[in-house]
Amino acid sequence: MNVLFASSEVWPLIKTGGLGDVSYSLPHALQNEGQNVRIIMPAYRDVLKVCTDLKILGWMDSPYGYMKPAIRLLEAKHPDIKIPLWLIDCQSLFDRPGNPYSNTEGHDWFDNAERFTQFSWAVSEVAMGHVVDDWKADVVHANDWQTGLVSAFLDNYADRPKRIFTIHNLAYSGNYSRQIFDDLGLPKQWWSSEGVEFYGGFSMLKAGLIYSDAITTVSPTYAKEIRTSEFGHGLEGILSSRSYKLSGILNGIDDEVWNPEKDPYIANNYSLETIEEGKLNNKRALLEKYVDEPTEAMLAAPLLGMVTRLVEQKGVDLITQAIPSLISESDANFILMGSGNPYYERVIHELCEHYPDRVFSYIGYSEPIAHLVEAASDIFLMPSRFEPCGLNQMYSLRYGTLPLVHNTGGLADTVVNASAEAINDKTANGFVMYSADTAAFISTIKHALYLYQDPTQWKALQTTAMQEDFAWRHSAQLYLSLYK
Ligand code: ADP
Ligand code: GLC
Repeated sequence: MNVLFASSEVWPLIKTGGLGDVSYSLPHALQNEGQNVRIIMPAYRDVLKVCTDLKILGWMDSPYGYMKPAIRLLEAKHPDIKIPLWLIDCQSLFDRPGNPYSNTEGHDWFDNAERFTQFSWAVSEVAMGHVVDDWKADVVHANDWQTGLVSAFLDNYADRPKRIFTIHNLAYSGNYSRQIFDDLGLPKQWWSSEGVEFYGGFSMLKAGLIYSDAITTVSPTYAKEIRTSEFGHGLEGILSSRSYKLSGILNGIDDEVWNPEKDPYIANNYSLETIEEGKLNNKRALLEKYVDEPTEAMLAAPLLGMVTRLVEQKGVDLITQAIPSLISESDANFILMGSGNPYYERVIHELCEHYPDRVFSYIGYSEPIAHLVEAASDIFLMPSRFEPCGLNQMYSLRYGTLPLVHNTGGLADTVVNASAEAINDKTANGFVMYSADTAAFISTIKHALYLYQDPTQWKALQTTAMQEDFAWRHSAQLYLSLYK
């Protein structure tokens, strides 16, 4: 089967969050299942910098947008990408510094509507076989709002490929005004409540929901949650009425990249057998970045870690609000890593200044440090208000770093609370809070810290955690049966 997998970010070329990880791992897992897969993404400046062997496969003249630009399809190579990588190249839209969506100051590009309209249109042309003569897609798999219009453009063709649209996060919906819709020259027949119109503007994500043959999201629980007003961002009605084509398929993790036995970024590789010594050495290596000589007491104390985009979704405020009382009532230390909202960055900075021997932080994006934080921490904090899937709790399980999560989305599907019953039947692998507030967060941490004092008990939890199997092949098979 020819599968065209379209995404606005693909690790290790460019990544802002879990979408990048998934857009690397899932296509590879599909290829391992024998499919003929192409990854297609915009040719951002930073992507072109790390790719080699660029080859022009074809040209397209876009009928849309202010400039109706000429667009090239390139094929490129990168040592980590083991399947053909196709890039949509249009200098005026993608040859810029910064991340896929915003400039170096963190502001969204003013022309994102046009950038991702052109990208989606180009993907639809490639999928139809209009660009590369001998390659037409059987399935186009589009991801999040940036590719929402792919399915809509394909609606023009009777002999189109099947269209799968995956929601990674309903909170980002690519909403733009009527004016922009008109200026882009988008088809007038799309403008209806059963089309792309959304509260007077238009939503690229809604286009993906309306025009696709199947909608998936990244965990079974989130697939249920988004049909309610609490999680639906106004799209719950559309989603409920399309329940027949909506399903939740849990993300997997790349168990080569996230493997404590081989991870090149950590100070001491370890397995379940060597976890005590391994984690201790990683904790020492991490703390040495902040204090000259970590004391024995510091090394024995539990280290609570966080790695996240600093946005409201992630419940960062619950962590920062809880820290003062946890510092006074326990011996826990904290390593807080992330970047995003300047407000959270400032609050974290202030906590570090206030508790220089107890709270440490890394503000910024760094793959090596993220791996070290996973390996060095005892408990991983993820009190997200909502979480479509979440990858870090699965990385944490694999590293024997017990995750503490809120009971929502993919977190609810992957973490089993250490209740007496679950400990007894050996299914417990972490800690679950049942409401997203500071009081629940503190009491769940206290429960975790209580269990931490009993090394045998803790090892039993780590054993269950490390034996979980979230490899991508399981989910890839589910996607494959959907494609079929
Ligand atoms: P989301 O996609 O909502 O951000 P996920 O848990 O699915 O959440 O994926 C987040 C990914 O981004 C993980 O691979 C995580 O390690 C990574 N990540 C987040 N913040 C940072 C950071 N500051 N430095 C390095 N990696 C980060
Ligand atoms: C989104 C979600 C996250 C999910 C990721 C990959 O960014 O916030 O929960 O794991 O996409 O699907």
